[in-house]
Amino acid sequence: MTEIRTPRLLLRRWDDSDLAALADLHADPRVMRWIGDGSVLDADAAAETIERWEEEWDDEGFGVFAVELLASGELAGAVGLTVPAQLPDLGHEVAVEWRLGPQFRGQGYASEAAHATLEFALQDRGLERVVAVLRVGDTASENVARKLGMTFERETEHPELGFPLRILAIDLTEFEA
Ligand SMILES: CC(C)(COP(=O)(O)OP(=O)(O)OC[C@H]1O[C@@H](n2cnc3c(N)ncnc32)[C@H](O)[C@@H]1OP(=O)(O)O)[C@@H](O)C(=O)NCCC(=O)NCCS
Repeated sequence: MTEIRTPRLLLRRWDDSDLAALADLHADPRVMRWIGDGSVLDADAAAETIERWEEEWDDEGFGVFAVELLASGELAGAVGLTVPAQLPDLGHEVAVEWRLGPQFRGQGYASEAAHATLEFALQDRGLERVVAVLRVGDTASENVARKLGMTFERETEHPELGFPLRILAIDLTEFEA
């Protein structure tokens, strides 16, 4: 069972007790604005999402963590690693992604969780490179990526939705844990 503790957060695998909190997160347009096609998701999608994330953990040995506040046990959001299937030109590159409930933003939690995720990618999984696939205009995500030391590589386009995307990347062998 993969779990990581940071000063303020517990990063852990998902279970059914997360369904309601994840459904609330995905029902909020402020969370979904820059994710997928930007639509909110209905409650049924939470179970599918957890299943997909857990499958990736089982298949790849990495995945998206449930991010819990150590102080309160609340689910703050989801941060972790995924192979972005919607972008075939990335091959089997591994991307870091993040989403927090609006009430949990502006407190450094996304950066804290993403930093621990990159440490996990390098030290635990032996990954030497991680990318971020960001919608053009998602400045909050670009800020997190840049604070991690990720740098701009190229622009591309979502093959189905047509959105312009920015690919940032980090060489983890030079990552200062
Ligand atoms: C992208 C997202 C996760 C960023 O969250 P965030 O809370 O802004 O990110 P951070 O954790 O870096 O925190 C930001 C601010 O918290 C502040 N902060 C407060 N206390 C802090 C602390 N103890 N440590 C660090 N920062 C702290 C900082 O001022 C920081 O702002 P700065 O970088 O300008 O200095 C969030 O906006 C989100 O969930 N967006 C919707 C989902 C989404 O678009 N996902 C992208 C798809 S990949």
